[in-house]
Amino acid sequence: MLQARRDYIIILFMNKLRIYRGADYDEMSRKAAAVIQAQLTVKPESVLGLATGSSPIGLYNVLAQAYGDGKIDFSRAKTVNLDEYQWLAPDDEQSYRYFMQKHLFSRVNINADNTYVPNGLAADPEDECKRYDYIIERLGGIDLQLIGIGHNGHIGFNEPSDEFPAKTHLVKLAEKTIEANKRFFKRAEDVPRAAFTMGIGTIMSAAAVLLIVSGNDKAAILKEAFFGPITPRVPASVLRLHRNVILAADDAALSLFPTG
Ligand code: GLP
Repeated sequence: MLQARRDYIIILFMNKLRIYRGADYDEMSRKAAAVIQAQLTVKPESVLGLATGSSPIGLYNVLAQAYGDGKIDFSRAKTVNLDEYQWLAPDDEQSYRYFMQKHLFSRVNINADNTYVPNGLAADPEDECKRYDYIIERLGGIDLQLIGIGHNGHIGFNEPSDEFPAKTHLVKLAEKTIEANKRFFKRAEDVPRAAFTMGIGTIMSAAAVLLIVSGNDKAAILKEAFFGPITPRVPASVLRLHRNVILAADDAALSLFPTG
């Protein structure tokens, strides 16, 4: 136990990992939202990398509420989303563009022209990947990248593989991901089999990364990502090489971390 605790402290120190722990999903969401709020206060024209999935919904609710209370201003912010399903139109309820409109963009004063999500309908995927990378480059890179983690350790849609892909690319989704995401669709067959995703290189180039993780079902992969080997088989493990990662997690997700 002592050994585990010592390793834990050394690893966290080397990673400069800060953990914002919440008792539950709501507290985690509030703590994570405070980081975004601080980022926009310090730099109102920030480029925010945004994420979808169930993990950030609470955080987006807190941000929408803060906007309603006059405590946050998105008027100069720019956003780039991590990923988008291939062949889903922006107005398709399962598309990530639709998700962002619903949970955040339509509820705050962000300029729609400053919000970017890969175009799932792009006829030429290679061109779309280049275009998306160019947008991020033109914006000057990402100040704060929000990410969740998949049960197999994926970040964005960077699935376990033999290498860490640097740039935006089209990925074939892992069975585990299709399985996990089918809850959002009417039928499992409706889950797209491919998606555009920002590369690991781009995520790692963000000045800061905010990883949000909630629930018992994420505890094992979270521990693996921070205490197992750094390998593209667990894409999130690469975050240990980033100098400025904030982990916002709830007690359940942290239950297998050495401090429990
Ligand atoms: C999806 C998204 C990821 C997200 C992950 C976890 O596949 N592409 O960006 O982090 O699932 O989702 P959830 O937060 O719903 O567990």
